[in-house]
Amino acid sequence: MSTNKIFEFNHHTRICFGAGMVKETGAEVSAFGKRALVVSDKGIENTGIVEKVLESLSESGVEFCHFNDVTPNPREAGVEAAAELGREFNADVVVGIGGGSAMDTAKAANVLISNGEDCEYWKWEANNSFYRDPLPTICVPTTSGTGSEITYEAVITSAANHVKISLSDGPVLQPKVAIMDPELTITVPPLVTASTGMDALTHALEAYTCTYSTPICDALAMYAMRAISGSIVEATKNGTNIEARTDMMLGSLMGGMAFANSFLGAVHSLSERIGGFYDTPHGIANSIFLPWVTQYNISADYAKHAVVAECLGIDRHGLTDKEASEKAVEKLFAMNKELGIPTFKEVKNVNPADFDMIADSCVTHACTEANPRDIDKAGFIKILQDAYDYSY
Ligand SMILES: [Fe+2]
Repeated sequence: MSTNKIFEFNHHTRICFGAGMVKETGAEVSAFGKRALVVSDKGIENTGIVEKVLESLSESGVEFCHFNDVTPNPREAGVEAAAELGREFNADVVVGIGGGSAMDTAKAANVLISNGEDCEYWKWEANNSFYRDPLPTICVPTTSGTGSEITYEAVITSAANHVKISLSDGPVLQPKVAIMDPELTITVPPLVTASTGMDALTHALEAYTCTYSTPICDALAMYAMRAISGSIVEATKNGTNIEARTDMMLGSLMGGMAFANSFLGAVHSLSERIGGFYDTPHGIANSIFLPWVTQYNISADYAKHAVVAECLGIDRHGLTDKEASEKAVEKLFAMNKELGIPTFKEVKNVNPADFDMIADSCVTHACTEANPRDIDKAGFIKILQDAYDYSY
């Protein structure tokens, strides 16, 4: 069972976790600034969540301006508009409220506020140096999936060439505080709960099995896989179950911490290329490819995938590591079916004629190098085609 025993582990985000924690947002933000650019998701507009945060800011004497025009798979234009608002307001702190799109828009806008409106921020992909450090960011996630509240990157889609860019510069973009209140996820609709939860499961599974895994990341990822697999069906089917929502948020947090210090694999290579090309929601794309990539990968390390099986709730007593690994793959397919995840063929605009080009771009994706089993263009085409031909 492979893991790297020479490693670094970094974590710079203060975590405030628990039901009702949203009330502490103002106090946490005021420790870093008094003029906040607040960036929030349109999807939570009628839930009362944003009002709770704004009220808490006001109570702590924090003035704010509010950008609420975040799009799914955020583009440059939205980031630039949010940054412009923050710059005009003279913001000294940035607050992101919502799912990954809102938090990533907040983080990327923050980089633009600090580094000037004309900077060519696309060149900062792959961990380059920003001219200046961004302002402090505080994140309030309202889904359990992305991990953006504690990761050091912001994923933005370039509208011109349909490619997702990960904006990062070491830990400087990592939020200062994550306000993690499971009650904020109660209104998340079932399919979003399911797909963002499968994204979180993918973070944990890929962090655990990829070539950059370390013992600390392994421990976090194993907890995350157990927490998510044990609660995702309940959280999806009975969204008001706060215990299930709490476990999902814990799993998302710990999966995020794991992959922020380990890495990801070919599921994310596929989902980011598919998301950039077809605008497919990130969680849906990950859900679809997780069973296929895991099926492809298990032979690279049956022992580790047998532990994955155990973390997914499979009784591996009497099974060989290979048999347990195969059960893990079966379980992932079954979870998608039970959670109502659409098949690849049902995803908008998907066309097999594009698979050659998508597979080409997957080969050069940064996550591919960390996949536990080498995968080439033919391997990606086979996974794309198999997923396309599959029905429940
Ligand atoms: Fe992800």
